[in-house]
Amino acid sequence: TQEQTDKEKQLAATAAMRWVRDGMVIGLGSGSTAAQFITLLGQELRDGKLRIQATATSVASETLARSFGIPLLEPRRGLRFDLTVDGADELDDQLRLIKGGGGALLREKVLATASDYLLIIADSSKLVPQLGQFPLPLEVVPFALPWVLDAVDALGGAPTVRPDKQNNQEMARTDQGNLLVDCHFKALADPEQLALQLQAIPGIVEHGLFLGLASAVLIGKGEQVVVRKR
Ligand code: A5P
Repeated sequence: TQEQTDKEKQLAATAAMRWVRDGMVIGLGSGSTAAQFITLLGQELRDGKLRIQATATSVASETLARSFGIPLLEPRRGLRFDLTVDGADELDDQLRLIKGGGGALLREKVLATASDYLLIIADSSKLVPQLGQFPLPLEVVPFALPWVLDAVDALGGAPTVRPDKQNNQEMARTDQGNLLVDCHFKALADPEQLALQLQAIPGIVEHGLFLGLASAVLIGKGEQVVVRKR
């Protein structure tokens, strides 16, 4: 049920607080699970129990962080994160991820790559035997869209352009003003190979495969949190 899922997200977010140390520079993920973590972090900070600095992976997470007075760092050269805590749409037992269901994949990958430790928090429905049931998101430059769709079609990805249902718009826009394409491969036999193929298509700014990036995952399952480390 939705209630169970929310509970598992809350459990994973709470467990993630054990990775936080005073003085850390922290990357803030996007989505509902990451929002739980940002809220917990914000409360500790407001209570004066913790001093940290952060950068957010989306405008939504930035707004939430700001509401707690979390000090936000702008992107700059040399900026590294001790820890980034983020959610995922799917993950497998090799800690490979599909992300971008919320559309924030580009900034999420930038921070994941600039982090010494990427901690993924998720409910148990996210753990799958094989990636690909969840549509793989791509961030695409608008001019390139038709050719990206052709190229992804040729790879068997059955691409669809993501609509902005909330605002009743035909196409959703990312925080960068780009478009989102969802690929329906169904099953990803070789995510590493697919990542290379997608990277070779001009106009794809980023894809939602996070390979070799996660350091550990915390999965809320029932009343427990399962930890998996690289
Ligand atoms: C955002 O772009 C995604 O990568 C999120 O990490 C993902 O959608 C997880 O969201 P929930 O925590 O809401 O399931």
